[in-house]
Parts: sequence; C-alpha cells; structure tokens
Amino acid sequence: MTSPDSLPFPDGFLWGAATAAHQIEGNNVNANWWEMEHRPDSPVVEPSGDAADSYHRFEEDIRILAELGLNTYRFSIEWARIEPERGFVSRAELAHYRRMIEACLAHDVEPVVTLMHFTVPRWFERDGFWRAEDAPALFARYTETVLPILDGVRYVCTINEPNIAAMLAGGENAENLVAHGLPAPDLQVADQLLAAHQASRAVLARRPEILSGWTIATQAFHATGEPGSEEMLREYGYPRDFWYLENARGDDFLGVQAYTRTFIGPDGPLPVEEDVETTLTGWEFFPEAAELGLRSAWELSGHVPLMVTENGIATGDDTRRRAYVQGSLEGIHRAISDGIDVRGFQYWSLLDNYEWASGYRPTFGLVSWDPETFERTVKPSARWYGGIARANALPIEG
Ligand code: NOJ
Repeated sequence: MTSPDSLPFPDGFLWGAATAAHQIEGNNVNANWWEMEHRPDSPVVEPSGDAADSYHRFEEDIRILAELGLNTYRFSIEWARIEPERGFVSRAELAHYRRMIEACLAHDVEPVVTLMHFTVPRWFERDGFWRAEDAPALFARYTETVLPILDGVRYVCTINEPNIAAMLAGGENAENLVAHGLPAPDLQVADQLLAAHQASRAVLARRPEILSGWTIATQAFHATGEPGSEEMLREYGYPRDFWYLENARGDDFLGVQAYTRTFIGPDGPLPVEEDVETTLTGWEFFPEAAELGLRSAWELSGHVPLMVTENGIATGDDTRRRAYVQGSLEGIHRAISDGIDVRGFQYWSLLDNYEWASGYRPTFGLVSWDPETFERTVKPSARWYGGIARANALPIEG
C-alpha cells in the first residue's frame, strides 16, 4: 500500500533512463558526426572520442540501472555500425546490439530501442542525407535489417527528435542544439523524416507485438502576452514542434522529450531572463516542461499513448537534479490524473553524456565515470530515483 503522502503511478509504469549510442559508446567512427567533429573547422568544443566506453561496458551499465531499481533502458542502435558502408551489413554489430537487448531481458529491464538518434552513416550523408530521394527507403531497409534482433522488444522509437534534426539540417549554426533561437527547419528534410518514420513503422508492423512511434522535443513555448505574441507562437512553434505531434496521429505511441521552456514575443523567441535559475546547458530550470509537453502531445496527436522518453537536467549540483525530477514527476502525475495515458518516464541520461556541440561539460547523468579508467560512480539522485521506481510512487515533498 502506498501511504497518502505519496503519489502512486499506474501499474506497469516504465521507470528508466535513456542514452544514445554516439553520446556514450565511444569511437563511433563511421558516423557523420564523428567526421564533423574531426574537421579542422569543426564547431564542436571537443570530439566524442571514447565517450563512456559503453560500447564495451553496456552490461555493467544495464546492471547498474537494474540494481538502482529501474525497470527500463532506452538506448539506440547505431546505423553507422550496422551498415558502415552502403549495402554492407555487419553481422557482428547486429549480434552486439542483440546482446544489449538480451542483457536487458536478463535483468528484467524493458529495452526501449531507438533506431536513429541524430547520427547517420557517413555514406548516407555523402549520398544526399535526408534530402536524397531514396532516404526513406534506405531507412526502411535499415529497419528491416535490425528487425530480426528485436525479439522481446515492445517499444521502438524510429527517429529521435526529427524536429531538432530538421532544424539542424536547416541552420547555419547547425550543430548547436540550443533551446533559444532554434534555426528555421529544413521543410524538405522534415517531410523526408516523416516519410522515413512511416516507412520504418510499416516494416516494424510486421511484428504485431512491437509498438512504434517517434520522439519529439516539446518546447513549452510561452507567449509573453504582448500584442502579436500569440500569433508568433503559432507561427514559430508549428514547424518546430506542433506539426510533429500532429503527425503522430495513428502511431502506437509518441515520445515526449522536454527540458525547459521558451518565451515567445511578437518578434520571436526571447533569451532566458537574467534572474532565473539556469542549468549547465544555459536553459531555465523548469521542471513543468514534462507535464506541458505531455498535455500538448496528447491534444495534438489525438490521444496517442505517450511516454516521456527524455527529461532531465545538466547540473553539477546533484540536489538540483533531485529537485528537478521531483517537479517533473509531480507534473506527470497531474497529467495522468487528468486521464492522459502515460506509459513511462525515461530520465536523460543514465550516464554523463557527450552533449553534441557542447562536449562533456553539461552533466546530465545519474551516473558519472572516470575519463581515464571509465569507472562508474552512482550519484545520490540516482539512488533516490531508484527508490521511487521500486515503490512505483513519488513521495510528496513539503
Ligand atoms: C535531446 C537529445 O535527444 C539528446 O541527444 C540530448 O543529449 C538531450 N536532449 C539533452 O540535450
């Protein structure tokens, strides 16, 4: 029985943590990002290098997650490893990702598998990237390639944050993933990502036990209230956020990835105000983001089942991580109490991760690691979060 001073979550709620291949595995040498990181004029602060070496240490990482009390691990399969050259499939890499799925199952951990988390094979970029006419077909073919290793997997995320991917493809400062002043999306790429998502879903549908969907960065836009700000919010938000939620209609589920909010004035997005608490990514500390993302996704998708596939905070102060997650979970609980179908919560991230253009400085992890020895250290917030997962209930803090 849960005590009245805690908020119970639905039976079977998926409590987990998320990662992505390029951000933790290390040496993802056949991916387009690796190539870009090593260009002489690269805009990134540092290359990904060995990262957390989770490519070799995934069993330990899954064990840590399970021992914390979490029951789900969201991770990505790296297309650049599976198909390092166009048309060449590495059976050894397929076996590697099968071992990851089996390690999850052996620990009673539900694997939530992402097929594409920003990075693509070098050849795919060279051959026209998402703009190439056959890009959706190539992604569908890759989906077919991995289908045989997905035994025991229920949730498959086809494409991670296509809305951010379309903005990265469109922007001048393309590699910079920031919440304020996002570049205009490349609408051709957006259409191609949707076609790729749908083609991938059609392949995944051959296995009726698989639930597939894409995961969207919801951005909790707030109009300032000035004349013209509401109109600007719709104009700015539609091609960056709402369109993707609308296009999840009919999918098996929809992933919500929420971190902060963005104020929109009559001329567009505003920088974070000076006097608010910010995180190591420079974003406003705003734990209500998850609840707002769920509400918006629920409405715009026409009530597709949801999962918070990412939510978290980059901070060096672990007590702020706990406060952030507490706030997020209270909001998610409110959404569930209002009848929104939320299947789970995946904290971003299990491990301190390579944060793209920002390198290793922003620390999102529940677990840190030594850059020389790769030894893992569990942070106190991780143990606290694991306790919530075990209880399937969130203590109310006064
Ligand atoms: C969104 C992305 O999916 C992930 O790659 C990134 O590290 C986190 N959010 C934090 O910015």
